[in-house]
Amino acid sequence: MNIAVIGTGYVGLISGICFAEKGNHVICVDQDINKITALQNLVSPIYEPGIEAFMERNVQAGRLAFSSNLIQAVQDSELVIIAVGTPSLPSGEANLQYIEQVAAEVGRAMNGQKIVATKSTVPVGTNEKIREIIAQQTEQPFDIVSIPEFLREGSAIQDTLHPDRIVIGLDNRELEAVLVELHSSFTDQIFVTDIRSAEMIKYASNAFLATKISFINEISNICEKVGADVTEVAIGMGKDPRIGPSFLNAGIGYGGSCFPKDTKALIQIAGNVNYEFQLLKSVVEVNKAQRYKVIEKLKESLGQLNNTVIGIWGLSFKPNTDDVREAPSLEIVEALISLGARLKLYDPVAMDKFRERFDHPAIEWCGNALAAAANADAVCLLTDWQEFKELQLSQLIYLMEQPILIDGRNVYTKEQIEGAGLHYYSVGRPE
Ligand code: UGA
Repeated sequence: MNIAVIGTGYVGLISGICFAEKGNHVICVDQDINKITALQNLVSPIYEPGIEAFMERNVQAGRLAFSSNLIQAVQDSELVIIAVGTPSLPSGEANLQYIEQVAAEVGRAMNGQKIVATKSTVPVGTNEKIREIIAQQTEQPFDIVSIPEFLREGSAIQDTLHPDRIVIGLDNRELEAVLVELHSSFTDQIFVTDIRSAEMIKYASNAFLATKISFINEISNICEKVGADVTEVAIGMGKDPRIGPSFLNAGIGYGGSCFPKDTKALIQIAGNVNYEFQLLKSVVEVNKAQRYKVIEKLKESLGQLNNTVIGIWGLSFKPNTDDVREAPSLEIVEALISLGARLKLYDPVAMDKFRERFDHPAIEWCGNALAAAANADAVCLLTDWQEFKELQLSQLIYLMEQPILIDGRNVYTKEQIEGAGLHYYSVGRPE
């Protein structure tokens, strides 16, 4: 199939690459000329393991191209995928400005029958709005479908090539066969439903996963008080297939460009129809509070934090990405600085992105984890990067002013800690 993908963020770029990988002809469009030039030179604007090799292979095979010419790309395609961002407005509501702009441009470019699919996460009813906007611009026949994306950053290509399920929301049943055929090389778990339900499936899925995380984080807080071990509790709970073992890792709360945005947007979507989503509001509150547990533990171990030196391991919102959007590290670093601490920061890939968002004279940028620990009064691990798991913790006692390690992600085992001579604090596990 000839496919135009509008928007080369995570969702658009990865979908484009993966549709090309499956033999389709894909043109990825973005209005940002610098981004397109970089992509044409096979440089990815996002950090994602393996992405450049996939880009190169498909560009060389003539199946993948990058362009800033939306009109041409739409005219050359039977399927147009909208994958531009839906950032949060101050109210928490999704900002649909980019989607609406693109819909109008797609409408103006229409030169024959096409399917317009939305992959961006959009509130229920948005696809119908997109239909109206396109129809205002063209007499050409077209169909609207909602195909929400469920990829995770850091494993985005593998998630897209081997998804657990594909959800297709449509109202013209004649499209079912062609869309199922297009996606059948990815998985046979294809669920076809109506457009509004497809839109809701995306929000409900992210909200449910966020709920699981806040739930286990609250359990971890109780575990700390009653002497239970949250990692053992999660394993025991996860053996029940109705609960499942994943997304039960206690830590410093969820971050990233999706869960914080989508939970707030769903609260707003409910609010707009006079429904108070009480459970999800609590999930968001619990997540906010969980970030500050690290600071409470630092205070518990060091007393006051003024003039202390704190090493920070990990800034990205999770491993294998340089993304710091809504990363817990941002709030924790700012709070520590306001309490008078000096900070030594290290992340394997996210330091530049972090510095673009936040910099301060109290921050020293370090070249590796041990450098960030040197002469520190405490180290806080905020992201569970593999390289932190492999560190020889016994070195810390020689390097640090005080050997205090706050493990915000429960990455270390009892065996790794034993004999390292550390004051070790984790999340919801007995010390
Ligand atoms: C999430 C969803 O997992 C994807 O299915 C979805 O497509 C995507 O949002 C989206 O809406 O586009 P992502 O934001 O890449 O993907 O990251 P996750 O792997 O879900 O992690 C989110 C946050 O939850 C991270 O900060 C992670 O550290 C935290 N987390 C995750 C926990 O604290 N505990 C867990 O057990 C799992």
